[in-house]
Amino acid sequence: MSASNGDIAFVPTMGALHDGHVSLIKHARTLTNNVVVSIFVNPLQFESSEDLEKYPRDLEGDSKKALAAGATRVWAPTIDEIYPENLKVNGEVKKISAGEIANKFEGAARPGHFDGVLTVINQLFKHVDPRWAIFGEKDFQQLHIVKNWVTKSYIPVEVITGGIIRDSDGLALSSRNVRLTTEGRKAALVISRALRSGSKASMKEILASEPALTLDYAEVIDPSTFEIADSSTLNPRAIVAGWIDGVRLLVNMGMAAGS
Ligand code: PAF
Repeated sequence: MSASNGDIAFVPTMGALHDGHVSLIKHARTLTNNVVVSIFVNPLQFESSEDLEKYPRDLEGDSKKALAAGATRVWAPTIDEIYPENLKVNGEVKKISAGEIANKFEGAARPGHFDGVLTVINQLFKHVDPRWAIFGEKDFQQLHIVKNWVTKSYIPVEVITGGIIRDSDGLALSSRNVRLTTEGRKAALVISRALRSGSKASMKEILASEPALTLDYAEVIDPSTFEIADSSTLNPRAIVAGWIDGVRLLVNMGMAAGS
């Protein structure tokens, strides 16, 4: 990937593009005509080699979708481009630490995940040199960690939030949804129902009523600290993650104060 020729809006992805990505690319296109989409399945952010292997890949289809959505360039780097030898110590890529917040919730369930995310984003930013980078709000903790890291490290990139896109049945779009069975997909709707219920107690009750769901966490948090929210928390946010059919589902939603 050569140096930038003007201000670039960047949408980093791991492929398996869906309408959520399309909306990020469209958003990028409102900022500039120079939109780069990367497609790179980052091994450093998968804690299980099985999940990495099962991750859906369709470079040709993804490139078409990205270009149709308004990307001006689709970049699918190789592993050696992203992780060259000089980044490694004893054969292992030296990772950026995502800090304390990366040990909570998604990070607790997936140790090292956010270190891997920051490490790849740092490399992608170095190659693409964007002015803006657009990240989906569905991965709420990722968005928070990326924003903090960019600010703390004085990285001259404006991180833009792209809203969550849902299917007509209410399920938040995710590249992993394609691995759900028909029954699993129906069961997964319990999550959006629970999030809409309005209080933490009813959210938990509704989630517990679905036997197909193995719940990992369901909490209402302070979005600036990821501490459990209390009645004084501004803009509390419900975050839910769990497994259906061996597929990890992850969603969040703003809640009314004191819920
Ligand atoms: O959100 C994702 O798809 C990935 O975590 C990202 C930001 C492309 C980094 O690999």
